[in-house]
Amino acid sequence: MISTRKLDFDFKGKTAIVTGAASGMGKLTSERFAECGANVVLTDVNPEAVEAAAAEIRANGGNAIGLVVDVRDFEQIEAAKNKTIETYGSIDILVNCAGGASVRVNKIKEPFKDFPLWALDWGLDVNLKGPIYFTRSVIGQMIEQKSGVIIYLGSIAGAEGGSGASCDYSTAKAGLMYGATKSIAQYGAPYGIRCNCVSPGPVLTREAMGKMSTLLNRAAEPIEIVNLITYLCSDEASFITGSNYMIDGGRVCMPKRSYADMQK
Ligand SMILES: NC(=O)c1ccc[n+]([C@@H]2O[C@H](COP(=O)([O-])OP(=O)(O)OC[C@H]3O[C@@H](n4cnc5c(N)ncnc54)[C@H](O)[C@@H]3O)[C@@H](O)[C@H]2O)c1
Repeated sequence: MISTRKLDFDFKGKTAIVTGAASGMGKLTSERFAECGANVVLTDVNPEAVEAAAAEIRANGGNAIGLVVDVRDFEQIEAAKNKTIETYGSIDILVNCAGGASVRVNKIKEPFKDFPLWALDWGLDVNLKGPIYFTRSVIGQMIEQKSGVIIYLGSIAGAEGGSGASCDYSTAKAGLMYGATKSIAQYGAPYGIRCNCVSPGPVLTREAMGKMSTLLNRAAEPIEIVNLITYLCSDEASFITGSNYMIDGGRVCMPKRSYADMQK
């Protein structure tokens, strides 16, 4: 059975910043935060889409603003941090959803041996440096508040590699899943700050993901991932920090047999 029930948590009085909030899991996470009472700051590099996503939340009765932020630009990140504090007075949650494989987003056709260097830089900057920049920006405020939650989005690619064309993406995601999550959890713990990583397998934010294999023989509905993100941000997850959660329909433990063969 596939459950798409939206899990409710109490985020009243909390303020969450979400990156990559104009679409996919970032947008759904923002909506869920707002529905659970949080003030939400949606940030994305896409100006029209991020404002539309924030306006939709407001139209449904939630508190939200949309800000244009390229996670590669520390000045824009700092401006978003300042605007968040000015508007809502605190930063309690940061969810780093912005990301994507450079080969797909930038439509790179060349094999890895000829992969344009700018496209490699894009993949590493957006997927790895961006979340670390954002953390570096907001963690001072969380330290002052003596509480906070930071979530990274890893990927199955960080655990299994992405072959040549997705080398930048899989390397960046592995960096978040292991190095960044543990480092920030260690640094933040004395100040009541928790940090965890959610690493999905294929998710149906794009139809093409439905073609990837998993042990459960399907891709995830976005809400199946977003329920885990919101849980980890909630006080119910108060003893969880420094962990990476694979949520991949069992893809990491796929036997080297076909799905059909497993039924025999
Ligand atoms: N969809 C999947 O199957 C899947 C699987 C594993 C991991 N992930 C990861 O989960 C996260 C969300 O995935 P999704 O499929 O919901 O994403 P998506 O492609 O729907 O949305 C990504 C958002 O990030 C924004 N973005 C891109 N570059 C940016 C930048 N420089 N600064 C700010 N925003 C930027 C885009 O405008 C877009 O709105 C990503 O980090 C992705 O790598 C996704």
